[in-house]
Amino acid sequence: MNFRPLNETVHICSESYEDRRQFMQDKPQSDYVQLPVIYFVTPTYPRREQIPELTRLAHTLLHIPRLHWLVADDQEKCNDYMDKLLYRFGMPFTHMVSPMPSKFRNEKPAPRGVANRRAALQWIRQHNLTNGILYFGDDDNTYDLRLFSEIRKTQRVSMFPVGLIADYGVSGPVVRKGKVVAFLDSWVAGRRWPVDMAGFAVNLEYMAQYPYVNMPYKPGYEEDLFLRSIGLQMNLIEPRGNNCTEILVWHTQTKSKKLGMVRLESKYLDDRSNLGALLHNLKLMGVTSTTESEGRNALISKNGRENPHSKILS
Ligand code: UGA
Ligand code: MN
Repeated sequence: MNFRPLNETVHICSESYEDRRQFMQDKPQSDYVQLPVIYFVTPTYPRREQIPELTRLAHTLLHIPRLHWLVADDQEKCNDYMDKLLYRFGMPFTHMVSPMPSKFRNEKPAPRGVANRRAALQWIRQHNLTNGILYFGDDDNTYDLRLFSEIRKTQRVSMFPVGLIADYGVSGPVVRKGKVVAFLDSWVAGRRWPVDMAGFAVNLEYMAQYPYVNMPYKPGYEEDLFLRSIGLQMNLIEPRGNNCTEILVWHTQTKSKKLGMVRLESKYLDDRSNLGALLHNLKLMGVTSTTESEGRNALISKNGRENPHSKILS
């Protein structure tokens, strides 16, 4: 265990503490002011599926009162498109960038989402937050709304099963007489806490007692080492989700594809049609790029027949 304090540089792109939502789950915002804040940490990285994943996740989080979304992007530079997207959702957020150190990039497996979660932990430290709940919510999982009321009750560390994990289709605590006594997970590998990142939540007052909170760059062991760094003991674990009998979070994974490519003469990427603006937007979102020379010409059809670009666009 490396007992060293985190020493990350935190690079904030934009943030907002304003909650512009009036109603959440049919109740006005004012009904919720007493609740502790959930700090929902989402590591994310640029790829074709990034914007759709974050949009889907945002549409879950929009139902949740008193939540601050920490979106930590695994890249060097801030991007305006993401700032605007996050602002548009109208809930409190902090957008930061924190790239994986280059020496890890080509490792297999690489420590995914670690640099960014570390930066988020550093942000929590910097703000001396001792009130609220920390949860690591990857951008591609599926979250049941009941998860949030369950984790909000966390006194120290709460745990619950995660669906769709590896061979068993599940990973989570074994509970007897209301106490966590062991774990069901198809990959143990010496892990004392063989749980998924999405399978636990931590109370910040509890975490604040541990100055050496850390998440080392050790693929597969991130959860275990993080939980060790905050001195977790079996008897401290609070089982949630009706004594760990229900699934409140799913480890869904999205099939990843390489960037789309559309071959189109650049002279047609102007405002004579929608295509200029559309393809420009898709480029900003990291989905599709355009080329003048590579691959087959973009198919543009009318009445079931391919038409020359010049005929439709000039
Ligand atoms: C599994 C676990 O569910 C994750 O909690 C764990 O972090 C991950 O393995 C791991 O240790 O590698 P999995 O679905 O296999 O998750 O991994 P991804 O969803 O691809 O990545 C986990 C998170 O890190 C995602 O939020 C993803 O957006 C982010 N990530 C991924 C990066 O920030 N950078 C990358 O290069 C890849
Ligand atoms: Mn995932």
